[in-house]
Formats: sequence, structure tokens, C-alpha cells
Amino acid sequence: MLADLDLARAQQSASGASGAVARVVQADLTVADQCARMAAEAQEALGGIDVLCNTAGIDPPGAKKVHETSEADWDRILEVNLKGVFLSCRALIPIMVAQGSGAIVNVASQGALLTMPAMAAYGVSKAGVLQLTRQIAVDYARDGVRANCVCPSGLVSPSLDRLSVLGAEQLERRAEAMRRAAPLGRVCTPEDVASAMLFFASGMSGFVTGAALPVEGGATTAMKF
Ligand SMILES: NC(=O)c1ccc[n+]([C@@H]2O[C@H](COP(=O)([O-])OP(=O)(O)OC[C@H]3O[C@@H](n4cnc5c(N)ncnc54)[C@H](O)[C@@H]3O)[C@@H](O)[C@H]2O)c1
Repeated sequence: MLADLDLARAQQSASGASGAVARVVQADLTVADQCARMAAEAQEALGGIDVLCNTAGIDPPGAKKVHETSEADWDRILEVNLKGVFLSCRALIPIMVAQGSGAIVNVASQGALLTMPAMAAYGVSKAGVLQLTRQIAVDYARDGVRANCVCPSGLVSPSLDRLSVLGAEQLERRAEAMRRAAPLGRVCTPEDVASAMLFFASGMSGFVTGAALPVEGGATTAMKF
């Protein structure tokens, strides 16, 4: 089941999905009631919840260094990127606890592990996702619920927020900077992130919980000179 604030976008994703999509729902993850409805619909459509992937996130380019970040941007970034994950987990965890099993896979960012220049609110929100993931991992381990997160570097496909302000030349500069930063010498793809998420969603990671997996071609390991 796919949930997104933008129903048309979720439907488009569903039509391109290779697996079966039972249902597409519109939900604003920052609203508790909508998360509760999403959980109820998922349980009704699927008969249980094995895996929850929290991928929704925003990255408004106007939010830069602390003194350059508006209060409205700060609040909204923390609301979507961190509170949204909290509300979504809060709605679905009881179903997993009742089942005695479940895997939560959150999308954080390389920015949760390192400090990215002039992305204060975004970095803080993703560091919060990482800590929330660890908290859930420890609090629900004995209930059979695992929680892990992936920490991707910038993807070949920037977020919608970034895409709206970057021209072709800036996009190429961005890609070149990421190729240089990653020892593996290329830019992260959605498939790279999906593969890492699949590992956490599956029994292959059955003894892994509270982990933050960098998906960045080694960029976090390499010191820059
Ligand atoms: N693209 C990158 O370079 C990159 C790098 C590292 C991490 N990430 C993270 O990966 C995740 C996905 O990024 P993306 O590039 O696919 O972003 P995107 O902008 O393409 O998509 C984000 C989706 O989140 C949805 N959304 C926004 N607010 C919502 C809300 N309140 N409730 C429900 N849905 C909402 C949007 O409608 C959109 O479909 C995000 O968490 C992002 O922070 C992205």
C-alpha cells in the first residue's frame, strides 16, 4: 500500500511498481488522524502490516544556515521529516506489536551522519529520524519489531523541492560533486536506496535493529583533503 500527501503522485508510482499494489491512499503524515486512517486502511486491505517504510520528506532550498532559516521553514521541515515519521510509526506499531512481528525502515540521510553545509533544519530533522529509529528499535525489540534506517547521499533524482530551483548546469555540478565525494565514483540511485531498504524489510536482516546504513558509495568513510 502506498500513502502520499499527493494522491496523483502515489498513483503514478503505483502504476510503475513491479510488485502488486493493493491500495493507494492520500494521507498527510503530519496529521495524527490521517495516520490512524492510513493504518486502519492498511490493516483492512492487507490483513496485517509486515513492513512500514517511511520515505516522505521535504527539503525547501530556502532553509540554509541557522540565521537564514525562517521559522516557518524550520517548523515545517521538522514537522514533515520528523513528526511525520513519529506519527506514522505511532499509528502502525500497535498492529505490529499485536502480531508479534514487524520491520520499520526509515529514510534518513547522509546528513544524519555528517553535517551538510547550510542545511541546518534538514540535517537536524534527519538526525532526529536516526535517533527515533534507535529508540523504537530498543523499545519494541522484545515485541518482535525491528527498526532500521538508511542514510543515502544525494540521489541522481533530487527531491521535488530542489528540482524546482536547480537548472541543468547546477544539476550537473551537483552530480559531479557527489561523484567526487564517493569513493565508488558515481551518484546514488533510487535502486541503491530501495535495495538497502529491502534488506532491512526482509528476514535477511533478522538480527539487525537500530542500525543506520550509509548508502553513499563510501563518502562518509573517506576523509576529504
Ligand atoms: N533525493 C535525494 O537526493 C535524497 C537524498 C537523501 C535522502 N533523501 C530522502 O529520501 C526521501 C525521499 O526523497 P525524494 O527525493 O524521493 O523526495 P520527493 O520530493 O521526490 O518526494 C517526497 C514525497 O513526500 C511526499 N510528502 C511530502 N510531505 C508529505 C506529508 N506531509 N505527508 C505525506 N507525504 C508527504 C510528497 O508528496 C512526495 O511524493 C526523503 O525522506 C528525503 O529526505 C532524498
